[in-house]
Amino acid sequence: MLKGRLLLFLFLCMFLSACRGGQKEEEKASIRIGISLYRGEDTFINNICGILEEKAKEYERESGIKVVLDIQDAKGSQNVQNNQVERFISLGCDVLCINPVDRMDASVIIDRAMTAGVPVVFFNRQPVEEDMNRWDELYYIGVDAKETAVLQGKMVVDLYREDAGAVDLNGDGVVSYVLLEGETSHQDSLIRTEWSVRTLKNGGVPIEKLTGGIANWERSQASALMEQWLAAYPDTIELVVSNNDDMALGAIDAMERAGVTGVNVIGIDGTTPGLEALESGKLLGTVSANKELYASVILELAASCALGEEPPEEYPLEGGTYYWTPQEILIRENKD
Ligand code: BGC
Repeated sequence: MLKGRLLLFLFLCMFLSACRGGQKEEEKASIRIGISLYRGEDTFINNICGILEEKAKEYERESGIKVVLDIQDAKGSQNVQNNQVERFISLGCDVLCINPVDRMDASVIIDRAMTAGVPVVFFNRQPVEEDMNRWDELYYIGVDAKETAVLQGKMVVDLYREDAGAVDLNGDGVVSYVLLEGETSHQDSLIRTEWSVRTLKNGGVPIEKLTGGIANWERSQASALMEQWLAAYPDTIELVVSNNDDMALGAIDAMERAGVTGVNVIGIDGTTPGLEALESGKLLGTVSANKELYASVILELAASCALGEEPPEEYPLEGGTYYWTPQEILIRENKD
């Protein structure tokens, strides 16, 4: 009996090691990743994509596996993106990295990927949970929107506590602010708006909202809104709270045109132009996600999917699906 079990065990061990050997022989020399961006012109997405390309080269050098990136711009159209996915699959992509145009409508992409057995790494625009739960080969990489907003609020709370006059510019006991919001359908806009304002209030900053508006993450739209607000509330705006850096820069553009100085502007992202504005003192602060890490996780997770391996252990996935990129406050050293 015991002998029989021992033999069975030995046989199983031999079988498993033969399977592993077989897999090794089949190891891929190259992987093909299909990437579709909701809008290639978006500054934040553009930044992430640039780093992603560098990470792919790094990965190639380190692993000896050739990485072919097929990057496409959906230019704001879900239809175009669905066709891109179709093409990626027909070209034999091993994995897809999708920045969905309409995060509520990722089901067509998921259907296609599931039928073809091609894993999908979504990023930045989070599909709804119901869609994400449909298959265990779906992943999402982004930043925790509430955490971002709390950090954005905190930078002003800390400044106010240290030097109230640096925030309440006219010293009337009220900080009059305007608010620039991203796309209404984007999970980040709603959560950022709610939690930035809450953090300011809870932190004891006596804020009063003058007005706000949706500028869809875009610099030019934000600039147009700010131009109107400067005319409607002359010499009154003390703080511009923006859901991202690009819209913050739009507000700064409008103030420069109108010759207005001294207003505090806070953004989110730490994009290249955002950091330049911080450096030159035009932006008070921003909340920056670790973009190197963000792009590394997308690339390495995608590569592991393409190779049929387990997700990389060094990047823990919440529920086996979600990766939340760490972020930090960047604030200009000296207001003057
Ligand atoms: C970023 C924005 C960007 C948007 C695109 C947000 O998380 O903060 O700058 O425009 O994602 O989806």
